[in-house]
Formats: sequence, C-alpha cells, structure tokens
Amino acid sequence: MLKDDIKEIMIDEEKIKEIVSDLGRRISEDYAGKEILMVVVLKGSVIFAADLMRYIDVPVKLDFLQASSYGSGTKSSGIINIKRDLENDVMGRHVLIIEDIVDSGNTLAALKRMMSERQAASVKICSFLSKPSRREQDIEIEYIGMDIPDEFVVGYGMDFNEAYRQLPYVGVLKPQVYASV
Ligand code: IMP
Ligand code: MG
Repeated sequence: MLKDDIKEIMIDEEKIKEIVSDLGRRISEDYAGKEILMVVVLKGSVIFAADLMRYIDVPVKLDFLQASSYGSGTKSSGIINIKRDLENDVMGRHVLIIEDIVDSGNTLAALKRMMSERQAASVKICSFLSKPSRREQDIEIEYIGMDIPDEFVVGYGMDFNEAYRQLPYVGVLKPQVYASV
C-alpha cells in the first residue's frame, strides 16, 4: 500500500483546505476587476491548481507548462529547459504562476523572467509550499500556502519517481523508500 511508505502526515486534508481557501480569498481580493491567466507548472501543481481555482471568484483562464532543470546536478545556474510551452500568448495578461513547492527557487526565477520577457502585464507566483532554508535565488513569492522544513514530501500532486501524487495529504516518505531506488 502506498501509505505504508509514509513516515508521517505533515499536512492533512482539512489543513490543506484551510490553506487553499485562504490563498483563494487573498488572490480574489488582490485581482478584483482583473482576469488571471494561471500558468500551471506541470506536473506537481495540477491538484493544487484545480482546488485553488475553485476558491477564486475573479475570471481565471488556465494554461500549462512543463520545465526541467538543464543537465543533472547543475542546479545553481537557474537555466531551465522548457519541455512543454504555453498555448497562450502572455503579452498584456496578468500571469499567476502556480507551483507545488519552491526549493532552490531556480525554476521559478527562470519562469518569472521568461513571463516578463514575453511582456505579461504582471507576473506573480503562488506556491502551495516553500522550503525557505533551501533557497538559492532571491525571488519574491507573493502567495505561499505554508513554509515547511527541509524534508522531502509527497502527495497532493507531489511525487517521488512519479509516484505518490494521488495521496490526498502531504506526507514525509520513509527513508528506506529512497534507499531502495
Ligand atoms: P527548485 O527549482 O529547486 O525550486 O525546484 C522546485 C521543484 O522541485 C518543485 O516544483 C518540485 O517539482 C520539486 N521538489 C522540490 N522539493 C520537493 C519535495 O519535497 N517533494 C517533491 N518535489 C519536490
Ligand atoms: Mg514542480
């Protein structure tokens, strides 16, 4: 069973709902009178984005992109590879980038720069989780659901080797799961 690989539940379903509804309320207030283009960063942010948009009461349109770090182990450069690009032109749009979790911040720093270069009217970031102790890039994240310690988490969209995304809570993996890969 999937849940046998989980050491502890860090954020349960009730707490997730509280966090996401609160973010939705803040975003709705801040974007009053505007239309949001949600740029959902695949794949980890899909469940968060689907929940979040239902708590936003200004018009929202959806688009998706997928990015990966260039090479392996070269995390500090901030250079990312766009594996799948947006369908929409972001010029003049109010872009809200949706992330599952910010670690070094390299991915988001690059995406934010890219959206500005494409002349979005505004670019903000909303991340469900953040690990501030891991940050390498000094980026502004306008909306953060919750800061967490430096532990590898799965569930609510987040994966380890593409697994565990379907767990309805955020959990910490047992160390033996890593050891066996
Ligand atoms: P960054 O560019 O270093 O900030 O990397 C952020 C990305 O790494 C996230 O979008 C996730 O895909 C992945 N990531 C970072 N920490 C975790 C974690 O604890 N669990 C699952 N994925 C993570
Ligand atoms: Mg991600």
